[in-house]
Amino acid sequence: MVNMLIMGKPGAGKGTLASKLLEHYRLAHISTGNIYREEIAKGSAIGQEAQKYISQGELVPDDMTNGIVYDILKNHPMPHGFMLDGYPRTKAQAIALDEMLHTLSIKLDVVINMDVDDELLMIRMADRRVCPKCGATYNVTTKPPKTAGVCDVCGTLLIQRADDSEESVKNRLRIYNRATRPLLGYYEKTDLLMTVDGALPTLTVFYEIVSKLDGINRGHH
Ligand code: AP5
Repeated sequence: MVNMLIMGKPGAGKGTLASKLLEHYRLAHISTGNIYREEIAKGSAIGQEAQKYISQGELVPDDMTNGIVYDILKNHPMPHGFMLDGYPRTKAQAIALDEMLHTLSIKLDVVINMDVDDELLMIRMADRRVCPKCGATYNVTTKPPKTAGVCDVCGTLLIQRADDSEESVKNRLRIYNRATRPLLGYYEKTDLLMTVDGALPTLTVFYEIVSKLDGINRGHH
């Protein structure tokens, strides 16, 4: 069992790397961004509230996000562990998460930080395409679908995310620098932080993480 947290700027490749790690370690995926996109698609009250913030590239208020994460950690069985993706994003969320983990007697094993520079992110997000039905992510240059514009998994027409406009991406980066980047120092103090080069191909980063984690686990036994 392994419980991990994946952090990084918007578009750093968290979701893409997460999908490889989830499969390998059979983890439950807790992506607050995906949860909000699903709620928006359903038109739920949570979705309607979240959309006001997400479309502007702003963060959804902490109380709402903390409540969603706590509910999942408390009520969903995760026998092989979990991957928290895109949470926490503020100091208040990190403190709330520590309290949740303490209350539920859950131990965090690693915090993966994907380091990528801003120019590459802007290109990646401009080239990103997503499936509005199953959520699969593509990239017109680095990970094109087999048939241009069509999802490999379910055949749905691919779209660009509403918050991938240049304006919104710039705002998301500003917010990352202000609210989320300081959390790296917070996790560095806990000795859990593992920084990887997110500019490398996904599989290279994946193998680096697996070999480091397996080394850590072997050390524990
Ligand atoms: P969220 O969905 O978490 O967005 P994000 O953090 O901005 O991250 P992205 O999903 O944009 O990117 P990613 O890092 O997963 O990159 P990807 O793998 O797709 O959140 C969306 C919004 O929801 C937030 O802005 C906020 O409003 C709200 N929200 C969510 N969580 C919240 C919270 N905790 N508190 C408050 N509000 C919250 O990759 C990007 C592209 O690059 C793809 O095209 C991919 O194919 C390509 N690519 C990826 N890796 C590589 C690689 N190694 N080489 C080449 N290409 C690559």
